[in-house]
Amino acid sequence: MFITFEGIDGSGKSTQAALFSKWLIEHKQRRAILTREPGGWPGGALLRDLVVSGSLRHQWSEAFLFMLDRAEHVATVIQPALDSGSDVVCERYHDSTLAYQVWGRGLPLDTFDQLAKLSAFPVPDLTVLFDISPERGLRRAKSRGKLDSFEKEGISFMTKIRDGYLALSKRDPDRWLIIECTEESSEEVFSILIKSLVSRGIFCDK
Ligand code: TYD
Repeated sequence: MFITFEGIDGSGKSTQAALFSKWLIEHKQRRAILTREPGGWPGGALLRDLVVSGSLRHQWSEAFLFMLDRAEHVATVIQPALDSGSDVVCERYHDSTLAYQVWGRGLPLDTFDQLAKLSAFPVPDLTVLFDISPERGLRRAKSRGKLDSFEKEGISFMTKIRDGYLALSKRDPDRWLIIECTEESSEEVFSILIKSLVSRGIFCDK
């Protein structure tokens, strides 16, 4: 299965993705890899640094870089793993581009829908959205240290991204699972995630 984890900055998706891939391997005895965007392929680190530095000026540059990053990530990591029968857990994927570059920056949605089709990007079987308020997300991102260029955009930008994610989840409700993150610990959030999967009949074969 191809599972993507999405959410605004500070939503806790990295912690959950790590717990989840470990759970697939140790608890479900599945073969699984954990990867991320941007930068989850050999060579991606350079590109990731460039994009989060905030030094790009043309309004399409960051979108092109994220699409390039995804194309190489799909070709070198995601598709080979899926073809070999492994599960792929990916932190951020094409929905991040739709939420950040379309809802956040105002670029056209249909262009990215077409590009994803043309590029034959595999569509996730499941996308988990860790939904957190922009205020709380930014507070958590700040507590981790230096903010990247997206986090520095502040509450109004993060509100647009969150609205984007919620709109995207309504376009394709069967693919999306929304986990509301309020004051729970990461262990509690993880247990809610597993219970939600079981109630949807996903990964409850053993
Ligand atoms: P990431 O390293 O995942 O940040 P964090 O761990 O703080 O969530 O991603 C860096 C930033 O890149 C993040 O603010 C979201 C943004 N981003 C986009 O704007 N578009 C995209 O397509 C992707 C994959 C990420």
